Amino acid sequence: MLDKIKALQQEIENVTASTPEEVEMLRIKYISKKGSISQLFADFKNVPDNQKKEVGKELNLLKVFAVDRINKLREGFMAKEPEGGDTDVTRPGEPFRPGTRHPLSLVKNEIIRIFGRLGFTVAEGPEIEDDWHVFSALNFPPEHPARDMQDTFFISRNPDVLLRTHTSSVQIRVMERTQPPIRAIFPGRVFRNEAISARSHCIFHQVEGLYVDENVSFADLKQTLLYFARELFGENTRIRLRPSYFPFTEPSAEMDVSCSICGGKGCNVCKYSGWLEILGCGMVDPNVLEACNIDSNKYTGFAFGMGIERITMLRYGIKDIRHFFENDIRFLRQFESTF
Ligand code: PHE
Repeated sequence: MLDKIKALQQEIENVTASTPEEVEMLRIKYISKKGSISQLFADFKNVPDNQKKEVGKELNLLKVFAVDRINKLREGFMAKEPEGGDTDVTRPGEPFRPGTRHPLSLVKNEIIRIFGRLGFTVAEGPEIEDDWHVFSALNFPPEHPARDMQDTFFISRNPDVLLRTHTSSVQIRVMERTQPPIRAIFPGRVFRNEAISARSHCIFHQVEGLYVDENVSFADLKQTLLYFARELFGENTRIRLRPSYFPFTEPSAEMDVSCSICGGKGCNVCKYSGWLEILGCGMVDPNVLEACNIDSNKYTGFAFGMGIERITMLRYGIKDIRHFFENDIRFLRQFESTF
């Protein structure tokens, strides 16, 4: 038996193959179920007990050797891997699609740029606020309905910890820490306890603007807003101011722009009025200046505030405010980052 093993080992050591088919024949000849090595295994039961240990060991070594030899021969016919593994450096790159900016960010950035050209800087404030900055310093009477639980989200049971309902809180923070001249805009997220629908959401975004200096007049406000409207909606845009009321401005107004869709002729976006309401504004109430330790005999100011969602919807013809918060990639991909 041991001689047979030795002979077979030598035979296998010397085999060669010039095609893959020949390798397969060798495999069948030596290590398949009917091959000669299997035959030896079958004969193993006839080996005398005292030789079993040694013969068994040799037999196993032969099998390992044969399998190894056949594999080596087979590998010789396999396609050679190119240098450096399977990386083909000449292949065109995988297309990499970068994300796009959110439409609200696009419009917010454009608004910041327009006011930047007029010298307005950008300031931000906290979303979690206190009563003073959101209401009291802004001249809201204690019983004003905007303080009501209906509108304001309070945090815990403390009536002095709440989510800001408008970015006017930031004008207070800025005026508290800076003396005029002040010329800044305040973009940010605001919260109101409103039912979610196609037109309103409980989370939305505003940009507030504030200009305080000596001799700031309503004419300055009007000219600033006209410039803004024409930069954003086109040079033929007209504006109109309608009297309104806010506790923190006096006089107050609401501004409409001529409909950018129909040019003022009337369409379903402007509800056939030719006008679109886009912001609230007014002269800063002297009480607000005084609450921030700014001398209201020396200084006057104007303020305005607008919703970014509304302007974005008008600009891109978006019909439902909820699209902004659903993060549907098919919606977001439509806004390539051009600015
Ligand atoms: N804060 C007001 C709002 O949220 C907007 C506004 C700001 C009006 C500044 C006048 C002046 O509706």
